[in-house]
Amino acid sequence: RAGTLADGFGRVHRDLRVSLTDKCSLRCTYCMPEDAGPFMPKEDLLDAGQIERLVRIAVDHGITGVRLTGGEPLLRADLEDIVARLSTIELSGGGSLPIAMTTNGISLDRRLPALQKAGLSRLNISLDTVRPDRYRALTRRDRFKDVMAGIAAARDSGLRPLKLNAVAMRGVNEDELVDLVAFAVSQDAQMRFIEQMPLDAGHTWKRDNLVSGEEILEQLSHRFDLEEVPGRGSSPAAIYTVDGGPHTVGVIASVSAPFCGDCDRLRFTADGQMRNCLFARQETDLRTLLREGASEEDLAAAMQLSVDAKKAGHGIDDPGFVQPGRGMNAIGG
Ligand code: GTP
Ligand code: 5AD
Ligand code: SF4
Repeated sequence: RAGTLADGFGRVHRDLRVSLTDKCSLRCTYCMPEDAGPFMPKEDLLDAGQIERLVRIAVDHGITGVRLTGGEPLLRADLEDIVARLSTIELSGGGSLPIAMTTNGISLDRRLPALQKAGLSRLNISLDTVRPDRYRALTRRDRFKDVMAGIAAARDSGLRPLKLNAVAMRGVNEDELVDLVAFAVSQDAQMRFIEQMPLDAGHTWKRDNLVSGEEILEQLSHRFDLEEVPGRGSSPAAIYTVDGGPHTVGVIASVSAPFCGDCDRLRFTADGQMRNCLFARQETDLRTLLREGASEEDLAAAMQLSVDAKKAGHGIDDPGFVQPGRGMNAIGG
């Protein structure tokens, strides 16, 4: 076994996020414009075999969990094949590689049985509102029923923990945080509220508009008794029990309380670029190396170079902060 992907700040990377496409079945106003595109050309996308090869190398170098993201990963026709291939990868400590997925839930009801059979371990589903009219306005698509069917399938699948993600937004869903928690509890899921980061397609993010983690907790505490669960580790979410448990709620305060010092994440984009941070301004081109017939050692060395270039933090508060060139749908969230 090779060494670990450690950076100059002593951060050892364990968690790999693999984006499978920049396309999506929704057009959430905070993520993609209505007329999104052009999307990545098909010939630039990594195929299932290339993804498996890169992930194997990353696991040989200390990665212990992978999360499939998008765009919307369910838009990949070969998703079941990708999951099946990744689930054959064994961890050095024993057991197989856990495979999680972040999805908007559309068509999940139809595909979950095969995905589960292929080895999918865990699901996070994005749900910013439980009001159908709002969902339509926010996502610019009339798919609320499909998403509810996806969440019900996830609930019934037994895959746990099941998490629901909502980006908290001023004037959009800030008045339904309590309703979202109640809905998540009804689905045996953990509701997580996320501070909005400056990764929006329209570059309209303003710090003054931030619905902060503190504000989220304040609102929820009017209705629920919340107790923080200790032992957060490198997780982006602070977790609280709801009314004594067993259900919990999470708050991801990446902007007001950055967790970059404990970050253990790396990312591959769908077109084979490695990113050491959501906010990275530079990427490492693994796709070209793959095409040129690079060896395992060459690819591992490129991954380490990417890790070496990782900055201490996201720098959102720095005076010269510049949003990454790619949008959230191309980075993978
Ligand atoms: P778990 O393994 O269940 O904790 O998943 P996760 O929270 O890492 O993944 P998910 O895709 O559900 O992302 C939830 C939110 O956390 C999204 O807004 C992500 O953009 C954000 N997030 C995930 N990883 C990072 C990270 O490394 N840095 C920052 N700043 N945000 C992240
Ligand atoms: N800030 C924080 N989270 C975001 N997401 C999308 N855009 C942003 C943003 N600007 C969330 C999605 C999804 C997850 C992968 O990232 O809602 O749940
Ligand atoms: Fe699609 Fe996710 Fe962006 Fe919504 S947030 S448009 S579901 S990629």
